[in-house]
Amino acid sequence: MEPIADDASPPVVARVTVEPLGVTIEVRDGEDLLEAAQRLNYRWPNVCNGQAECATCRLKMISAVPEQAPPNQLEQAAIRRYAFSADSRLACQLHPLGDLRVFKAGVRVVDPGAANSWQPGGEVGLS
Ligand code: FES
Repeated sequence: MEPIADDASPPVVARVTVEPLGVTIEVRDGEDLLEAAQRLNYRWPNVCNGQAECATCRLKMISAVPEQAPPNQLEQAAIRRYAFSADSRLACQLHPLGDLRVFKAGVRVVDPGAANSWQPGGEVGLS
């Protein structure tokens, strides 16, 4: 009988530092950056949930080691549609090949208990 691996998760292929929040997101093999951020309980602005339609997940590359794969067809169509600059990418289509540093405003940590912690009438200053 073969031993069972302790961790069956795919290996981490990139560490993405997100400014201005200053956090590092570990991206696993096969994940795009949006999926990795959501797995780690970060809210990454997006509307279409990874369909390359809204461009709200767009980020600006600050540095990348090594060179990243070029945009796929879906991302190329979004680049043409929204005319964004060459240093911008869609987090939902970007599968990092190595460590990156990016800028994306609006990324924040999601408090897992926050969604259910609101109580009617519990607002401060309202009565
Ligand atoms: S989530 Fe909409 S384009 Fe990426």
